[in-house]
Amino acid sequence: MISGMNHAVLYVRDSERHRRFYEDVLGFSTVINAAGQYAFMRAPGSENHHDIAFFAVGEHSGASQAGRQTVGMYHIAWEVATLAELVEMEQRLRAAGVLVGASDHGVNKSLYCKDPDGLEFEVMWLVPPEQWGDDEHQAIIRPLDLTADTERFAHLATTLPSAGAAGAATPENKQDNVNLSNHYCHFFEEDEFSETDRPGFRRRVITGESLQLCFWRIKGGATGSYLHKHDDNEQLGIIVRGSLDFRIFDGDETGSSSKREVLNANQAYLAAPGVWHGDSIFVGDDEYDECWILDVFSPPRDDLAAG
Ligand SMILES: [Fe+2]
Repeated sequence: MISGMNHAVLYVRDSERHRRFYEDVLGFSTVINAAGQYAFMRAPGSENHHDIAFFAVGEHSGASQAGRQTVGMYHIAWEVATLAELVEMEQRLRAAGVLVGASDHGVNKSLYCKDPDGLEFEVMWLVPPEQWGDDEHQAIIRPLDLTADTERFAHLATTLPSAGAAGAATPENKQDNVNLSNHYCHFFEEDEFSETDRPGFRRRVITGESLQLCFWRIKGGATGSYLHKHDDNEQLGIIVRGSLDFRIFDGDETGSSSKREVLNANQAYLAAPGVWHGDSIFVGDDEYDECWILDVFSPPRDDLAAG
């Protein structure tokens, strides 16, 4: 059985021009490139070998007449994982001057664009199927209102991001997974985060017998980080969103010359007992303007145990 669509191949005037457009505007990477002849490309969030390929047929070639005088393909559609990414994409496509339309189709929110040869493509976000309702069987075309949609679907943004977070909870499976009688399980819940005495710093602490997790949500640009060390605790910091620009000293070094390090999402640092670290600049992510850090302490810190 067919499991889905794998890739599209387009005849274009200049494969190199198309390759650069897909890299610069849409963030694709080049898998195979024979400059002037063909290019195979992969979408940034794809595990496919290639999602699209371009074969050059020369500058003399006329524009596609598909849908006007000939049959042919109308457009291909690229999907983004979140509504926030569609909002970001709208700005990017507008800045590149290629955005030609936008529609709310009920079950998906769509942006329409033209590539360097005037071939149409769509960038869309699919509404979660359980919210399609009657729209599933209707060909809806309404003006797209991304501001209203962002408000309407705000609840989806309170779950962990789908990309980069293994086992992220979605509204559906989160409900299924919640077992409030099991005190060993902790779920991502917005209202479990507490404000701290430092403006812009929220945290949630889970304390075990010999381990402790402090989940920081720190507003981009928040200040109040200072150089410090824990003589009795080892600290493992994992960046989940945004970036951490900080200093970490080597061994028992105490000078002020340690150079700054920048850690991005999915990177980690280890501060052994007694190692100076901090003086941090927190860079927020695109979606929340927050830096999320999972700090694991062993043994647990008494000053964090209260939450
Ligand atoms: Fe620390």
